[in-house]
This record gives sequence, structure tokens and C-alpha cells, in this order.
Amino acid sequence: MNVPQTEPLKHRHSILIVDDEESILNAFRRILADEDYDIHTASDGKEGLAKLRNAQKPFSLIISDQRMPVMNGVQFFAAAKEIFPDAVRILLTGYADTDAIIDAINKGGIHLYFTKPWREEELLAHIKQSLYKSELLMENRRLVELIKRQNEELLNLNKTLEEKVRQKTSDLLAKAEELKASYERSQVILDGTVKTMSKIVETRDPYTSGHEVMVAKISCRIAREMGLPEQKIEAIHIAATLHDIGKISVPSEILTKPGRLTDLEMEIIKTHCRVAYDILKTIDFPYPVADIILQHHERIDGSGYPLGLKGENILLEARIIATADVIEAMASHRPYRPALGVDVAMEEIVKFKGVLYDSDVVDACLRIYKAEGKKAFLQEENSLSAAKPSSAAEM
Ligand SMILES: [Fe+2]
Repeated sequence: MNVPQTEPLKHRHSILIVDDEESILNAFRRILADEDYDIHTASDGKEGLAKLRNAQKPFSLIISDQRMPVMNGVQFFAAAKEIFPDAVRILLTGYADTDAIIDAINKGGIHLYFTKPWREEELLAHIKQSLYKSELLMENRRLVELIKRQNEELLNLNKTLEEKVRQKTSDLLAKAEELKASYERSQVILDGTVKTMSKIVETRDPYTSGHEVMVAKISCRIAREMGLPEQKIEAIHIAATLHDIGKISVPSEILTKPGRLTDLEMEIIKTHCRVAYDILKTIDFPYPVADIILQHHERIDGSGYPLGLKGENILLEARIIATADVIEAMASHRPYRPALGVDVAMEEIVKFKGVLYDSDVVDACLRIYKAEGKKAFLQEENSLSAAKPSSAAEM
């Protein structure tokens, strides 16, 4: 029989030999005496199974005779396989026991059979090979177990991570909803405050009723036409709604005075930009509302007030409100003249495009006028103010 060479064994193995002939057991003891194995013997299957059940450490190899009293080798292996499924099983039999060998393979799950009599070196080599195979089986099982355990750990880790991500996402969504609700509440409060402040000015000059709201509407329309971001449009809306709030410090006799104003009265009117700035600068708006309002009477060529700023030194938001302010004022009735109309207002801003009014803002107004006509620059019919007794509204 050709026996393949095996690598050196890594472990000390336990071997159980079951045979009813004491001479056979002795032969094994002698053959294996010089090897580094733990040898156990039993004289029948019943004793063999008891040794397997009471073993302190697993058996790597079980060798059993076929013909024994109490139970034969096939019956013994069938039960032994249940106790140590990974142990290599070798059946000892005679040449004539073909049926027993087939039975042992099918029922006892034997890996090898050995016929009596044997050659010692062959038997020894087969035992070594079987133990080597047992080590491979053990290693294989260890690796399979390791992979299984690692897979389970990964699976658990994954589940924990997924749960954490789900929880975090849900927390973030709830937080975002909370922030959104809080932001919407703030917007409502801000809107209400701005409208209230605007109304305060109107109570002192009821003839300009709706002027600021309309300037805000036109300004926002222009800003949208120019493609400004939503945040700038919001800033323009607030600033335009409050742009004349500084008139609160102007005596109402001047605000409501019919006819032309004196130079002194004009100077008093002009203070409304600075007054508005002083009122609003302390409020922590999310936009530069105070600066925009301070500059809403500045002109591109520097002829405006209160700072005489030029061109792009004037905030774009202020340039837009300045143009909308003029359009609304010219399109509306005044105490000393009827409404001049949107056409005249358009002629005015085109005539002074790039001089008094920003060129891009004027171009945007013309595009709106072309697309929507006069209605884009007019108040609703029922909110049109009656003849206003003061020219101060245009200041
Ligand atoms: Fe003004």
C-alpha cells in the first residue's frame, strides 16, 4: 500500500483503540509507544463509548475491530460518530468482511479500513496521515466557526449602525421640522412688526396710504426680474416697507402741507433717511435693512442724499427701492397734481438711466412693463388714495 507523506503534526492527539483481543491492543501500545500520542484502549464497544463520553479532551482518531462481543465495529462507529463527529474512524477487519466494510462506510462513517494482519510501518503511516487529516478538519472547523462568528459580529454591528443612522436621521428630521416651525413663527412676527411700523408713518400722513406697500411690491418684482437671490428679495421687501419710517420725526404740518415746501422744510424732510437709520440700526435684522433705507434717496451720479454716494457705492437694494419709489410716486395722484401715469414714469427713468437710476434696474423695469403693462406698477383701484395734500410724499 502506498502511503503519502504528511507534514509534522501540530497537536498532541488522543487515540482510542477498541478490540476484544488483548494481544491486538498490546500490539498497538507497542507500535505507538514512541509516538507522542495519548493512547486509550477498550475491550468492547460499550467500554469504548463510555471512554468517549467521559473524555476530557476530544479524540482525533478512533480505531475499532469489526468482530467484537456486545456490539460490532459498525454499531460502535455509528454511536461514536455522534459523540466525536470530527474524529477520523478506522475499521480493523479481515479480508472476508466486505459486507462489514460497506456497512461501516454507510452507517459508521469510517474514513479508512485496515485488514489484518497489517504491516507495522504502513499502519503507523496511516495513523499519522489520519491524525494529519484530523488536524485539517479541526482547523477547517475552527476557521468556519471564526468566519461564522465574525459574520455574526458584522451583522450585529451593521444592525447597530443602521439603527443609529435611523435614529440620527429621525432626530435630524425632527430638529429640522422644529427649526422650520420656529423660523416660520419668527417670519410671521417680523412681518407683523414691519407692517405695524409702516402703519405708524401712515397714521401721520394718511394721504400716502399704501405708498410703502406698493414700493415694496414694485421693488420685489424688479429684484425677481433681475434674478436676485431670495434672501436679498426678503431684505428688499422689509426695507421698502419701512423706507419712509424716518418721516415719523417730521412734523405732520410739513408732511401734510399743501403746495411747495420751503428750503428749510425740504431739509427737515431729508432727515428722514438718517432718522430711519438711527431707529433701525439697533434691530438685529438678518439683512442690512438700516443701510438700505439710509441710501434710498441716493442717486447714481452722486446728486442724492444724505451721503451723496455714487454708482455701485450705493447698495443694489437701495438702487432698486429708489427707482420703485419714483415710479410709484409718479404713477400716483398728488395733492398738487393728478397722477402722471406709468408711461411718464417710464420715460423719466429711461431719460435718467445711468444718471440718477441704475441702468440694470431701469432695464428690468422696462422688461416688466413690456410683459405686464401698467398694472405691475399701479395700486389696486380700490386702494388708490384720494388727492394727497402734500408734496412731501415724494421726498
Ligand atoms: Fe423717502
